[in-house]
Amino acid sequence: MMKLQQIESLRKELHQHNYNYYVLNTPTISDYEFDMKLKELQALETEHPEFFDPLSPTQRVGSDINATFQQVEHQYPMLSLENTYSEEEVQDFYNRIKKLLHEDVELVCELKYDGTSISLIYENGKLLRAVTRGDGKQGDDVTDNVKTIRSIPLYLQGDYPERFEIRGEILMPWTVFDALNKEREEQEEVLFANPRNAGSGTLKLQNSSIVASRKLDSYLYNILGGNLPFASHFDSLCAAKTWGFKISEAVKVCSSLEEVFEFIHYWEEERKKLPVATDGIVIKVNDYAQQRTLGTTAKSPRWAIAYKYQAESGLTRLNSVSYQVGRTGAVTPVANLDPVSLSGTTVRRASLHNADIIAGLDLHIGDMVYVEKGGEIIPKITAVAVDQRVLIGDKVQFIKNCPECNTPLIRYEGEAAHYCPNENACPPQIKGKIQHFVSRKAMNIEGLGVETINLLYDEGLLHDVADIYALKVDELSGLERLGEKSAQNILQSIEKSKDIPFDRVIFALGIRFVGETVAKKLVQVLHDIEQLKTATYDMLIEIDEIGERIAQSVVQYFAEDKNIELINRLKDYGLQMAVSEKDLKPQSDTLKDKSIIISGTFQYYSRDEYKQMIVQHGGKNVSSISSKTSFVLAGEKMGPEKLKKAESLGIPILNEDEFLEMLDV
Ligand code: IVH
Repeated sequence: MMKLQQIESLRKELHQHNYNYYVLNTPTISDYEFDMKLKELQALETEHPEFFDPLSPTQRVGSDINATFQQVEHQYPMLSLENTYSEEEVQDFYNRIKKLLHEDVELVCELKYDGTSISLIYENGKLLRAVTRGDGKQGDDVTDNVKTIRSIPLYLQGDYPERFEIRGEILMPWTVFDALNKEREEQEEVLFANPRNAGSGTLKLQNSSIVASRKLDSYLYNILGGNLPFASHFDSLCAAKTWGFKISEAVKVCSSLEEVFEFIHYWEEERKKLPVATDGIVIKVNDYAQQRTLGTTAKSPRWAIAYKYQAESGLTRLNSVSYQVGRTGAVTPVANLDPVSLSGTTVRRASLHNADIIAGLDLHIGDMVYVEKGGEIIPKITAVAVDQRVLIGDKVQFIKNCPECNTPLIRYEGEAAHYCPNENACPPQIKGKIQHFVSRKAMNIEGLGVETINLLYDEGLLHDVADIYALKVDELSGLERLGEKSAQNILQSIEKSKDIPFDRVIFALGIRFVGETVAKKLVQVLHDIEQLKTATYDMLIEIDEIGERIAQSVVQYFAEDKNIELINRLKDYGLQMAVSEKDLKPQSDTLKDKSIIISGTFQYYSRDEYKQMIVQHGGKNVSSISSKTSFVLAGEKMGPEKLKKAESLGIPILNEDEFLEMLDV
C-alpha cells in the first residue's frame, strides 16, 4: 500500500475508535490496541512529514508551545439565557410564548450543563476554529486546546452542511476534577472550587499538552448557520449526532407544560448520577420558524428559558469557629456545625473564607445557619436564620492573634486573607514549609511524610528545612513506626536531594508567589544564589513573567537575615545554589547576532534545552516571527500559522538534525 493511503486509513480508523470510545461510550478495541495503532501512525507521520495533517488523531496530544490566544469575532453573538428558580415563572414563559405565537408550541427540554460555553466552526467537514464565549461578541481562539478533547470530532461523518457553527459546553468530569484537586492539595496549590472553574481555567492554558492531560469532555446543543436543512431544534440535534458530535441523551420534545415539569422533576435527582456537573434544565421552543418570530432581546432569546435547581441547603447550628494556619501563614476560619445531611453526605464543618464574609453574615455563636453544598467541594454558610435566634450568642469576630503562636495577624493591602507573619517560628507554618520542601516537585525526599515531619518537629529534631540535612539514622529509627531500614532509605533520599537543580531548590524554599515556573524563569536570568540575593525590584520585574507582586516578595524574602542564614546553611550542606556550569558556559559564537524562533515539539532535547543551547552559542531566542528572524528551529507539529508566516517571509526552517549539525553537537 502507498504510504499516504496507509496513513489515511490509519487516521480514519483512529478517528472512528475515538468516536466509539468518547462519544458513543462503546469502544470496540482495547486501549492497548488503540495505543499501538496510534504509535504506528505517529511513526509513519514522522517518516513522512510531507503528509502532515493538523487534524490527525496524533494531534490530540497537544504541544508544549506557549500559545497566546487571538481574539475572534463571533458571527452570531453568544447570548445568555433568562434564568429562573421557580416553576411559576416557567409557566409564565409558556403562557407568554403561546400568546405571542397564537398556535401550538412544542418545547424541547435539555439539561443545563455547568461548564464553559464554546463555539465550534466546521468547514467542509473539518474543525476550523474553536472560540470561547468571551464578552459574547468576541472570544479567544482556543482551537489547539479544543483539539485535545476527544469527544469533539476533528472530521465529520455523514451528510453535514458545508459550513456551520455548533455551540455547546466544555466540561471537566467529576472524576478528573477530584483527581486534579487531590494532586494540587499535595502540592499545596490553591484548589479549584468546582469543575466549571477548573475546566475554564484548563481551556485557557497556554500549553495544550497539559490541556490534553486534563481529559475534558463536551456536550453540544445549538447549531447555527445559513440554509440549515432542518426546521426544528430537535431535528438539528439528531442530525448533529449523526455527524459525530456528542449530544446529550437527556433531550425530550414536550407538547405540554406537564411533560416539562415531569422532565424537571425526574432530572432533579437523576442528574446527580451523571459524570459531569449540571445546574438546571433549558427549555427551548422547538420550531425554528417560531423561534424566529419570537426573536431575541439584547441579552437572551425569547424562545428559551433556564430553570435552575436550588443548591441543596440545610439548616443547622453554629457551635464555634476555629482557625487554621497554612504553610504561607494564611488563616482560614472554619465553622463547626451540628452534623447535617446534605446531598447524601454528613456535613460538620463549613468554610467561612475570610473576615469580610464573617462580618457580612453577622454571625453569632449558637445561630441557626443555612449551609449549602453546590458544585463547591467545601460547603459554605449562605445565611443566618435570624428569625430563629432565641438567645444571642457572642458575635463572631475574626481573631486578632495567631491561634498557634499568638503573633498579631496582618492583612496585606488588597487581599481578603489575614496572615500570621511569624514565618519562622509558627509551628504549622514551619511544618508546612518542611512538607513543601520535601515534596516530589521540590527536593523529592522520600519517606518524610506529614506524620514523620510532625514527630520530628515535636521531638525537637526539625526546626527548619536545613535541619533535614543534619538528621542521623538513630534519630530517625528512634521514632515510632520507623525502623532502621526506612531510616536509612530516608537518609539516602536526603543525600540524593543535594543534586536537585538550582531552580527546584529555589522553588523548595517556599518563597511567596514563587512556584515551579517562576523559579525556572528566575534562574534563567539570575544564575546563582548571590545574584538572586542581590537582585533589585527593578531588575526582577524586567524578567519574563515576573510581575510586581512576585518581585516584591522575592526582595522581601532575601532582605530577611534569617532567610540568608538558612540559605547559607543549605549551601554548606551541599545543595545546588547555582545553575550547573555546563548549562551556562558559552560554547561558541556560531549563532552570534542570530534571532531564532523555536516552534513545535522535539525528539532529542526539550524546548528549554534548545533555548539554553541558543544562548550558549551566542544567539537570541525570540518569540514572534518577523523579517528580522534569522531562522526557525522547527520540531514536529510546528504551528501552521507560524509555518505560513515563516514561508511568506522567506525565513529558513531548520529541523533538529540540521540545527545540531550547525552547532556541531
Ligand atoms: S442554549 C442563547 N442549551 O447556559 C443561548 N445553553 O445561561 C443558547 N448552557 O451560555 C444556549 N446547557 O453556556 C443552551 N442545553 C443547553 C445549555 C446551555 C448549558 C449554558 C450556555 C449558555 C448559558 C446561559
